[in-house]
This record gives sequence, structure tokens and C-alpha cells, in this order.
Amino acid sequence: MAQVEVYADLEALSHAAADRFVKLAREAIQERGRFNVALSGGGTPQKLFNLLAQRAFAEQVQWSDVHVFWGDERAVPPSDEGSNYFQAKIALLDHVSLRPERIHRIKGELGSQRTAAEYAALLKQFGEDDLDWPRFDLALMGLGSDGHTASLFPGQGALLKSNATVIAVTVNYEDRPANRVSLTPQVFNSARNVIFLVSGASKAQALTAVTKESADVDRWPAARIQPEAGELIWMVDKAAAGK
Ligand code: 6PG
Repeated sequence: MAQVEVYADLEALSHAAADRFVKLAREAIQERGRFNVALSGGGTPQKLFNLLAQRAFAEQVQWSDVHVFWGDERAVPPSDEGSNYFQAKIALLDHVSLRPERIHRIKGELGSQRTAAEYAALLKQFGEDDLDWPRFDLALMGLGSDGHTASLFPGQGALLKSNATVIAVTVNYEDRPANRVSLTPQVFNSARNVIFLVSGASKAQALTAVTKESADVDRWPAARIQPEAGELIWMVDKAAAGK
């Protein structure tokens, strides 16, 4: 069963997530000398990013030992407002002492197919144990009102049959760029910690569906995220939790 924590609102949820980020970073750096984090896109984590950029949190993290990856990206240039990298850069990365060579962005400007191939090759360089990708100390995830997470969308399960680590997809969701690149569930599921941040009443139906034990994963892709040996925590606000 997933662990679900309900907070009053996005503010409270983001503070708790920032505390947890600091704690996980400290533990990982102490134990393994580095903290590998995969960020998500979307609006929900922006408050967390802003908090982490503030001195009170930023000075608790040894940023020189942090490696930043992304769980998904839109196929746009890094200076585009629709770029997940860009959003994280202006909210967080520009404000902490992260070494540029430790920021491993998904190069959306290359077009989704080539971007996916290049990111898979990059992940391979950080392969751990017998994996062709790094075991993330933390994978941050969001939830769409349609049940997607990262860029794993409903009805696209066939794309995951290839055993790829990174896939290219084209999907219209809200007003966001349609061509996207996403890590696949096997990569997220090897993480040591996976944290979903979910806020707002528009997510309530999806949240109920994906946290059910026998969820239809093709209809509700976020339910594919079930870490094999890691922790899965849903940090949600009251509005998303609904009843
Ligand atoms: C993306 C995301 C995506 C996001 C959800 C939730 O690139 O769009 O990584 O999976 O997390 O769509 O987005 P919101 O937080 O904006 O609701």
C-alpha cells in the first residue's frame, strides 16, 4: 500500500517536501557521497523549488554533491517557458551552488526521438549495479488530472513494451508542448525514494484511481510507479485528497 500524507494546502505540502528533500540529500551524501535526484515538470513542484532556493533550505544541502536529472521533458529549447529544465532553472538551479556538469538536462531541442536516444545514453553513463541508469535517491513525480505522470499518458502502454529506458511521446495535455520525452516506469521503480506531489481538486479523481490497489495502469499510468525496493510517498493537499 502507498503511503499517503495529506497537508492543508500546497504551501504546507511544499514545506514538508523541502524538509524531506534536505533529509534525503543528507542521507544519500553521507552514505554514497552523492544525491541523484530526478525532477518533475508542471506547476506543482515550483513552490518546492522556490523554497529550496531560499537560504534556510539551500544551506542545508551540499549542492556540490547533487546530480540533477529529469523524469520528463517537453521537446522545446532550454530557454522556452515550456521547458521543464527552464522552470527548474529559474526557480531553483540558478540560486544554488550546483556545478553545471552535475545538471543533466534532457535536451528537448533535439526533437523527441533523438532526445530520447541521447538521454538513454546519458543515463547509461550513470548506470548503477546491473542497471543501465542511475538508481535515483529521489524521483519527484506529479500527477495529471487524467492520471498521467512524467510523460506516461493513458492509452500509451504499447510504448513501454520495448523495454526502453526513455521514450518519445506526442500527447496534447492542457496548453503544454505536445512532443515529449519520458523515463519509463522501470527507471522510476528502481529509485530509492519516489515522492508524488499532488495539489488541487482537479486531481482528486485521478488520485483515488491511481492509489487503488488494482488500478488499470493503461488508463491510470501513475499507478505503474511502484518502486521495487524503495519508498513511495504521496504528498497531497486536502483539495486533492477530496473526501
Ligand atoms: C510535465 C510533467 C507532468 C506533470 C503533471 C502534473 O512535464 O508536464 O512532468 O507529468 O508532473 O502534468 O502537472 P501539474 O503539477 O502542473 O499539475
